[in-house]
Amino acid sequence: MKKIDPCTLVLFGASGNLSRVKLMPGLFRLDAAGRLPEHMAILSVGRGDVSREAWQADIKAMLDTKFKKGYDQKDFERFINRNHYHANPPTDPDAFKKMQEKLADASIFPQNLAYFLSVRPTDFSPIVEQLSGVGLLDESQYWRRVLIEKPFGTDLESAQALQAAITKHLKESQIYRIDHYLGKSALQNIMLTRFANTMFEPIWNNQYIDHVQITNNETLGVGDRTQFYDTTGALRDMAQSHLLQTLALVAMEKPKDLSPDSIRAEKIKLLQSIEPIPLTDLKHNAFRAQYAAGRVCAADGHGENVQGYLEELAKDGITASVTETYAAMKLFINNPRWKGVPFYVRTAKRMHEGNTAISIRFKKAPMQLSAEQHQNWLILNIQPHECLKMEVESKIPGLDIATRTMAIDMPQRLASDESIDSYESLLLNLMEGDPSLYLHISEVEAQWRLIDPIVKAWAADLSTVHQYVAGSHDPKESGVIFESEDQFWRYSIELGGDKH
Ligand code: BG6
Repeated sequence: MKKIDPCTLVLFGASGNLSRVKLMPGLFRLDAAGRLPEHMAILSVGRGDVSREAWQADIKAMLDTKFKKGYDQKDFERFINRNHYHANPPTDPDAFKKMQEKLADASIFPQNLAYFLSVRPTDFSPIVEQLSGVGLLDESQYWRRVLIEKPFGTDLESAQALQAAITKHLKESQIYRIDHYLGKSALQNIMLTRFANTMFEPIWNNQYIDHVQITNNETLGVGDRTQFYDTTGALRDMAQSHLLQTLALVAMEKPKDLSPDSIRAEKIKLLQSIEPIPLTDLKHNAFRAQYAAGRVCAADGHGENVQGYLEELAKDGITASVTETYAAMKLFINNPRWKGVPFYVRTAKRMHEGNTAISIRFKKAPMQLSAEQHQNWLILNIQPHECLKMEVESKIPGLDIATRTMAIDMPQRLASDESIDSYESLLLNLMEGDPSLYLHISEVEAQWRLIDPIVKAWAADLSTVHQYVAGSHDPKESGVIFESEDQFWRYSIELGGDKH
């Protein structure tokens, strides 16, 4: 357990959804688990003029909603006493000065300061500038760190502009660019599976691997985020950061040690060696679609009739859109290990199931006993079930030589294991000063460099976007990106999930 200095966490956007659902409950759980330092305060910053008591009552409501089975009263008392509120109305020119005066009371607020910016992306750089203006980023006596929520820019140019604006006031070591996928324990497990076992590394290359699929499927639609989503789309929302980071962990070389710098250096190298998608042949390398009305399986297991994306937009006054809710692309990595191996990255809303997985198909075995013989698959499943599955051909007992596919299924979580939300580990890392699960600017830039040209080409193409029925599997037409005819989407981690 790393030691955390006494500190104050300053939470901008504290009344927003992320804070209600993830951050406050996450901080409470960290506190209850004894992971927060004794001297640690939380200052929530919001636009509304709310008293400390009213804010504390609001926090109680957040915890009651999250922890239906209740919580320990002593834990609650300790946690609630850490919590304070500061109103920062955008109309008040002295708002940051007042915040600085409030934070100056060291008997309440330890002077190491971690800022969590859970605000609109357009507010990131003005907040940093104003914090700097009142001396709240000055590290001459205490550390000062700023966590920036996703997205870091909406394309390469805006990411670089944001970087230029904030580095006027912050050193790289003070900046924590979040990708919450890196806080998932199943994602951290990719590196351990690869490098803490002897059996995988020798076959982790183009000699044995036919292709890799990195998939994020959701049954959810865009919900009430129509405005945001329609200017973002699936590629930018999921692939640009979460899925390319997943790919980097699957494909990077072994870091020389587990220090943040060594891991980041390997991820950066890998991301920079992905070949740009050839725009002259975009249609064989990337595919987009939108969900139409259909029926999905809701969280409680029941079927639910849902509207199509365009209908949802129309309700909110948006009359036309070519924004994708399904995106798939084929990427190649230009290095000796991966030369020639396609990495298919896909993400979609309103699919038949919600699942995030890395599925690796191996090449044909040297001995083909029958036409039914399948190629081996190795699946690292990220969510909802964290598991590793290996599909192996095996003889059907009997007089004849025939094979069938059997699965070795290894759950990566035991019933007794702690279940930690990704934001909990990331909040802890922020306070510990450990940036290994945060993104370096070079990673962000490399990711935008890959995605930008596709996003721009798709935005410029106003022809009707392919529709898929909500609750269905991948649109058949998406198969146009496969490199060879015997490749197809793995649509489930269950045995037989390689057949439609
Ligand atoms: C967010 C996206 O970054 O990640 C959402 O904006 C998406 O659209 C979410 O639903 C998925 O995260 P998770 O942890 O639920 O897989």
